[in-house]
Amino acid sequence: MVMASGPILVPKLQIVGGNRLEGVTSVSGGKNTAVAIIPAALLSDEPCVIENLPDIEDVHVLMRILTFLGAQVELEDGTMRIDPRGVEGHRVPARLAQRMRASYYLVGALLGRLGRAEVPFPGGCMLGPRPIDQHVKGLRALSADVECHGDNVHAEADGLRGGDVFFDLVTVGGTINVMLAAARATGNTTIYNAAKEPHIVDLANFLNSMGARIKGAGTDIIRIRGVQRLRGCSYTVIPDQIETGTLMIAAVASHGDVTIRGCIPTHMDALTAKLLELGAHVDESDDYIRVRSNGAHRAINLKTQVYPGFPTDLQQPASTLLCTARGTSMVTENIFEQRFRHLEEIRRMGGNARVVDRVAIIEGVTGLFGSSVYITDLRAGAALVVAGLMAEGVTEIANVHYIDRGYERLEQKLRDLGAAIERVEVEDYSPMIEMVWK
Ligand code: EPU
Repeated sequence: MVMASGPILVPKLQIVGGNRLEGVTSVSGGKNTAVAIIPAALLSDEPCVIENLPDIEDVHVLMRILTFLGAQVELEDGTMRIDPRGVEGHRVPARLAQRMRASYYLVGALLGRLGRAEVPFPGGCMLGPRPIDQHVKGLRALSADVECHGDNVHAEADGLRGGDVFFDLVTVGGTINVMLAAARATGNTTIYNAAKEPHIVDLANFLNSMGARIKGAGTDIIRIRGVQRLRGCSYTVIPDQIETGTLMIAAVASHGDVTIRGCIPTHMDALTAKLLELGAHVDESDDYIRVRSNGAHRAINLKTQVYPGFPTDLQQPASTLLCTARGTSMVTENIFEQRFRHLEEIRRMGGNARVVDRVAIIEGVTGLFGSSVYITDLRAGAALVVAGLMAEGVTEIANVHYIDRGYERLEQKLRDLGAAIERVEVEDYSPMIEMVWK
């Protein structure tokens, strides 16, 4: 990543705030599911077809990584066909690995397929320290030799053997990496204190569709009986829990009335409960949620937790919404210690929030005003879009590549619901503009 020093032409989102969002929208396939399932396809001995993939940068980067390693990959209209039979490479190039967090899933997947992997430390959002000690511990419990040299993770196994993995804390990435490595290991693996997020269950369903024997996904003990080979399959990834939540929050923030189709309402229970507490209306059926608000929002407290608690990925848009709720809200971030950087930007829009350790104390103001702001990570991007919808006047949002990493056509979906949001190219002199990769 390069910080620019002079004026440059950069893409920005421009939002004229105040429009009420109304109508019906639909949710795309899950990002965090997609980035686990695509590497998992490397474990198969036959081609796999994965449907309902979101058209986002992380999916495109993974496609390039798999191709680099020797797989044949085709992607059309959200359907990816992966033929992993030609995969011989075990080294993931840094220029690709460092563009996303999920590149660390290639350690588990390549270990399972080739018995060795060399993967540069992953990139992804800067949310404070993001160690991978639990991944390393889990893979070592499966008899892999794992070392971190310089900027690389080296892993090697002379035949992976199942084992017991006790995680010291609940880790989504660690749980996924061990599931990937264990699927074709010899013998049984048990993961204790496993993550229970919907995409853990989706990954288990995908692996089981290929012939794996995984039980207990969605609970905190996952049992995996290793199999010798995995076959090809066709699989449809679940809808994106966090995109659904972002759209729900945007609907409430604009005092709107929005129906989100193609979602899984039960995945949204923690957010739904908080939106009801704040004063919004939520109706749901099997596969849609309708969210309405008349604008009278009360301050609430929320704490991020592992699933089924309130997801950290929705904390940033939710804490933004609370900036105009009546009273004082307290938001505690228990998962990532530096996930409040969006609030610094929202202060420039008139928000009144201060952060003490892991708690944001938000004093509701009567309204936000448009300003020039900078995205610092993916969900901060969603938060600033929500702020722009709420604000009076024009908000100009820079570093939109973060949003492109994880949201499919967010601005188009919001525009279709009535938001005044455009992508424009403008000159910017600020050192906070990040030039990345492209
Ligand atoms: N942790 C450790 N050691 C480890 C692994 C994690 O200390 O070996 C700590 C982390 O530092 C963090 C906590 O454990 O404090 C939880 O981390 P986890 O491993 O669960 O998170 P992750 O796998 O790095 C995934 C998602 C994140 C999402 C979190 C929590 C992907 C690619 N990323 O990250 O998604 O916030 O789980 O649900 O699936 C996003 O989509 O914007 C995003 C950041």
